[in-house]
Amino acid sequence: MIYRSFAKVNLHLEVLGLRPDGYHELRTVFQSVDLCDLVHLQIGGSGVRLEVAGQALPDDERNLAHRAATAFLAAWPVVDGVRITLEKNIPLGGGLGGGSSNAATVLQGLRHLLGVQQSTDVRLEELGRALGADVPFFLTGGLALGSGRGDEILPLPDLPEREIWLVTPALEVSTASVFQELRELTADREVSSMGSLVWGEGVDWEMAARGWNDLQPLVMRRFPEVCRVYNALVEAGARTVRLSGSGATWLALFDDAIESSDLPTALPPDCRVFRARTLNRTSLQRLRVVH
Ligand code: C5P
Repeated sequence: MIYRSFAKVNLHLEVLGLRPDGYHELRTVFQSVDLCDLVHLQIGGSGVRLEVAGQALPDDERNLAHRAATAFLAAWPVVDGVRITLEKNIPLGGGLGGGSSNAATVLQGLRHLLGVQQSTDVRLEELGRALGADVPFFLTGGLALGSGRGDEILPLPDLPEREIWLVTPALEVSTASVFQELRELTADREVSSMGSLVWGEGVDWEMAARGWNDLQPLVMRRFPEVCRVYNALVEAGARTVRLSGSGATWLALFDDAIESSDLPTALPPDCRVFRARTLNRTSLQRLRVVH
């Protein structure tokens, strides 16, 4: 079976402070987009065997997809082994959650393939959370609020699907290093229980445009080339230009549909540019299985 493993963007990301466990307390709004990797799953052999095509990534337990399959087989030892092939398109270290998405797709794909009961939802979420803070979102998808480490997920009513441009400068930003740098800045800030921007019923794209990302100023200061891409997108007329996660991908929303030829030539030539669409949960269900 082949499954699509979709990327996400953060429409909003607030850092409320440092938690006793060393992670940061977040209020973030995730949105699924149609940029995706493909995950091939085949039952057979013994243990987990992983192949990666399209990007230079480890094919052992350093890869989150590998760890997800190991965790699944430990929880439901109904077969001896599984073979996974990842076809990678989502840029690495870009704030689009590619690795976490792959892990969630492996968990959901194995459940589907092996006919494990839907009532395993809670257990699957626990496995996901143990793999990484972004994984639980990918088990839900669509539009969702993430709190805690970003791993406590509350699905929000989906927004109408729309075009969204994703521009990834040619550099990888390490999430851990961005949070490390932020640590000193947030150490003395109190952790409150509510984000200051309230998302809930009645969120629309107008409201989404009023969100922000607390990591953005820090990443812009540290990487001038990331800053240049921001300026170019603003000049091209984008209404909203926002960093996704810890970057370095910019999401850009334009008022009208545009063509890639309308995008500024000032964008550095080594940027990757994706004309994507947001996905609601109904579309995710429909598109999840390739065949
Ligand atoms: O969850 P993940 O392992 O992808 O996060 C990478 C790193 O980012 C963590 O090890 C941690 O240092 C930092 N992080 C954080 N607060 C969060 C999420 C991640 O400090 N809410």
